[in-house]
Amino acid sequence: MTVESVKPEAPGHEAAQLCEPPLAGGGVPGLGHGLKLVRDPLAFMARLREHGDIVRLKLGPKTVYAVTTPDLTGALALSTDFKIGGPLWESLEGLLGKEGVATANGPRHRRQRRTIQPAFRLDATPGYGPVMEEEAHALTERWQPGETIDCTSESFRVAVRIAARCLLRGDYMDERAERLCAALATVFRGMYRRMVVPLGPLYRLPLPPNRKFNRALADLHLVVDEIVAERRASGQKPDDLLTALLEAKDDNGDPIGEQEIHDQVVAILTPGSETVASTVMSLLHMLAEHPEHADKVKAEVESVTGGRPVAFDDVRKLRHTHNVVVETMRLHPAVWILTRRAVTDTELGGYRIPAGADIVYSPYAIQRDPLSYGHSLEFDPDRWLPERAEEVPKYAMRPFSVGNRKCPSDHFSMAQLTLITAALATKYRFEQVPGSNDGTRVGVTLHPYRLLLRPVPR
Ligand code: HEM
Repeated sequence: MTVESVKPEAPGHEAAQLCEPPLAGGGVPGLGHGLKLVRDPLAFMARLREHGDIVRLKLGPKTVYAVTTPDLTGALALSTDFKIGGPLWESLEGLLGKEGVATANGPRHRRQRRTIQPAFRLDATPGYGPVMEEEAHALTERWQPGETIDCTSESFRVAVRIAARCLLRGDYMDERAERLCAALATVFRGMYRRMVVPLGPLYRLPLPPNRKFNRALADLHLVVDEIVAERRASGQKPDDLLTALLEAKDDNGDPIGEQEIHDQVVAILTPGSETVASTVMSLLHMLAEHPEHADKVKAEVESVTGGRPVAFDDVRKLRHTHNVVVETMRLHPAVWILTRRAVTDTELGGYRIPAGADIVYSPYAIQRDPLSYGHSLEFDPDRWLPERAEEVPKYAMRPFSVGNRKCPSDHFSMAQLTLITAALATKYRFEQVPGSNDGTRVGVTLHPYRLLLRPVPR
């Protein structure tokens, strides 16, 4: 996956002379579209294209612009007239810190990307191969045949352990990875609640859920402080992301501050764990729901490995397994909503967008759109065979986004997800057990509600 170059469309008009996008239908006086968005955000976002390529939404007194076509999401992500901003990012910033790469803009963001990028380059990924292999196999080896596995905690564990062990190497990582798992799971749940139901002071009351959230958030920051302090005390400088952060300089050539180092570690670990964990849950769900594809993955892996445990070097030969991962990410994208803020009066899709406007779009809606995909709701990994993949409109499948905010971790993520899928499908078939709820849970990311599976040895 490549970063497309910026190709500005000549507006032809001054933005001021253009008209505003149409107001989406179905708003309720006073509340606008807020109630529908809160009640069923996925269905709401998926229907917006019927109202226009860009539409205005009223969320109480606030106007938000929703982009509904693949090409305009590409134009939005590639344009310098929009920056990271909006309610999603403000909530993240308030909880996770203001100085990390995910929420920074402008020169600070460019400098921070330069610092972290080497750890995620395609040629850096093989260095993580042994850890990815070990963790992918450890995941399946921990399970006893016939036991019920709670996919939420299992997926979180493997995602956090791979991110932490690869990017912040250290022997101390095992115990810390467990604490990170527990803290992140609670923090993400609470964060989404605070975003969609902004009750402000009520979240400061000493109620049990607030106390649990605050403890988890405090522990997340504490673990990060411990990791940084221990690395410093060790005097070691392994070739990893943490060393790159500790040695980073600001634009004046001075070492970056403690707060920035801390926020950077948080800003990399948190999206890194939550997105991968959600995708592993969806993969487990798809393997259970589509045993024919699980069997095909097993056959492919065995044709490549000849029966030995799958290894990192096998990943690039596993085409079908890769396509199962991509198709899972299409139908169940971890990142289902993204926001931007206009930095100037500008134009998008022939409409006027005023400076300061919040723009939103949903990869979930874009990736399920019947105008882009035949049988759009069908799980069909073969649609990613090269001859068929050409039919997919540009920007209709960009799970890692494009442009200067594109996820740095696309290669790192695809390698581990393909390896984990291969390890899972060769060892087990999966069956849902009573009490499992595979409905979609909408949070900061999307994943199955509470998936409980029984692994049946092959
Ligand atoms: C399935 C896996 C993943 C998916 C689908 C995913 C998706 C995304 C997307 C869509 C963005 C762009 C957000 C925007 O445009 O507003 C992003 C940004 C980011 N992701 Fe990922 N991500 C994944 C895994 C990871 C991992 C494993 C890490 C780190 C270990 C990571 C670190 C980041 C960071 C630091 C950013 C902010 C980049 C910036 O603003 O310059 N992601 N991710």
